[in-house]
Formats: sequence, C-alpha cells, structure tokens
Amino acid sequence: MAHQLLQIIEKDHEEIKEILEQLENASQGAVKKKEDLFMKLKMELLPHMKAEEKHFYPVLGESKSSRQISMEAIEEHHVAEMVFKELDKLDKDEERWSAKLKVFKEILEHHIEEEEEEVFEVAEDVLDENQLDEIMTAFNEEKEKGKKKYR
Ligand SMILES: [Fe+2]
Repeated sequence: MAHQLLQIIEKDHEEIKEILEQLENASQGAVKKKEDLFMKLKMELLPHMKAEEKHFYPVLGESKSSRQISMEAIEEHHVAEMVFKELDKLDKDEERWSAKLKVFKEILEHHIEEEEEEVFEVAEDVLDENQLDEIMTAFNEEKEKGKKKYR
C-alpha cells in the first residue's frame, strides 16, 4: 500500500478534479456559482501545490534518478499557476473564461496523471519511510497554513 503522504496527495487530487468538473458543467450565466466554485478551487489547489513545491519536489530533486521528473513537475506547476492567475482575473461570464478553464483543466489532469503514475513510483523508490514521514508532516503543515489565508 502506498505511503500515507501519497494517499493524502491523491485525495487532494480527487477533490480538485471534482471541483473542476463542477466548474466545467456550470452554465455560462451561473456567475455566482462559478465564483464560489473557483474560490473553493483556489483554496484547495494553491496550498496543495505550494506544499508540494516546498516540501516534496525539492527532496525528490536531490536524487539523481528523480531529479528530471521533479523538475518537470515544477515546470508544470509553473504553467498551471500562470493560467490560474489569468482565470482569476477574467470575468466568469466571459466566453473566454470557459475556453481557458477547459485548457486549465486539461493541464491539471495531465499533471495529476503524471504525478500519480510516475512521480509516486519514483518517490517510493528513492525515499525511505522516514523521509516520506517527514515530508508528510511538513506538507500537511504547509497546506493548512495556506488554507488559513482563505478563511
Ligand atoms: Fe502537483
């Protein structure tokens, strides 16, 4: 069974994918609904990504065999964050918003798939139980800290 850290990350992913699904299905005129869902997405996604960037990828980057994949994941985060900022600024009833959301959803789904299939495997390979435990504690703390900003 996968380490608890990876299970937590996967659970976050499920939540994020669910919100994205709801956002995509919201009708163009349902501005308030889309704003609420987007805020929910922001609260879930940004602290999760930051916690990974700060405590997961740097440790993975230290091993030769996981360095490349960790760097790629960081770049994918970078692209996702750029598109997220653009989405944040656009009015939710604009036609462009739905188009951008669709692209954003694809970027994120691709990243999540890669993370769960490739990054997790390599993480369990190069990190021992203690390291995964430590990352998990730091990851959880960072995420909670980030979420507080939106409460
Ligand atoms: Fe990620």
